[in-house]
Amino acid sequence: MKKMIPKVRKAVFPAAGLGTRFLPATKAQPKEMLPLVDKPLIQYGVEEAIHSGVQNILIVTGRNKSSIEDHFDVSFELEHTLEQKGKDDLLAIVRAISDMINVAYVRQKEALGLGHAVLRARELVGNEPFAVVLSDDVIDAETPCLRQLLDVYEFYGASVVALMEVPEEQVPAYGIVDAEPVEHHGTSDRLYRIRNLVEKPEPSKAPSRLAIIGRYVLTPEIFESIESIGPGAGGEIQLTDALRHLLRNRPIYGYRFEGKRYDAGDKLGFLKATVEFALKRDDLGASFREYLKGIDP
Ligand code: UTP
Repeated sequence: MKKMIPKVRKAVFPAAGLGTRFLPATKAQPKEMLPLVDKPLIQYGVEEAIHSGVQNILIVTGRNKSSIEDHFDVSFELEHTLEQKGKDDLLAIVRAISDMINVAYVRQKEALGLGHAVLRARELVGNEPFAVVLSDDVIDAETPCLRQLLDVYEFYGASVVALMEVPEEQVPAYGIVDAEPVEHHGTSDRLYRIRNLVEKPEPSKAPSRLAIIGRYVLTPEIFESIESIGPGAGGEIQLTDALRHLLRNRPIYGYRFEGKRYDAGDKLGFLKATVEFALKRDDLGASFREYLKGIDP
């Protein structure tokens, strides 16, 4: 009989990092609240989780957390004013955000690393598989990236990380995998079985150019792995190190997802995402394109 694979019901959103690459904007607000056109980064991630079938959202917050909580909360005063002014379309947008999710918050008092942030969600996650979404990685994809990972998880019942090929000079900025391709749904260039992972290697020591980006589906044994590792690169408790520990006892898959990822936690990546998302908008695209064409270089 086939083993029952438990369903992923919860997504953890670590949002307690210091966002130093985006100072001074992140001095008093989390980078997850930076708006891409008119929506904060974290809302893109939350919508991706919901469109992937994951309804319960757990946000790990740090200092300056209140703007995230306020964003997903009901805003009586704003709703009342919009209602009185008859601004029904704006009212619908505002209400949709607080109606959207079941959200819970947990605090990471000190930014001790991504692995540490994920561990803070242990009690709320419990003994079940869960997703991790880093909302400064914004992904534009026909099938949401998290849904693509869940399809792999639901087939193999093992942890899955999102992979992307990066140019050699960018290798030291990522967790890089050593992985062997696996035939899946008739193709052999998307799914990999991971043999090893290294956080931020020098290009000459990197086992490949396949980088882990901010989407994961993890089985709950990851919590014990996080607990048993010490600080790694940059003195932080790294999720990549915990995955390497997990690999001793459990298989981990990597999926080279279909879609385009923007590193919106970086100034240039954020600008690219802003321009491309604005150009795709029905209400802004045409006039924004005209404006860009007319800029004197
Ligand atoms: P990053 O490394 O991109 O975030 O972490 P950072 O440390 O805030 O950014 P820089 O490099 O200083 O600009 C990836 C994700 O993990 C979260 C971040 O909020 C981001 O979503 N994170 C990171 C935590 O929640 N806690 C941490 O201790 C570290």
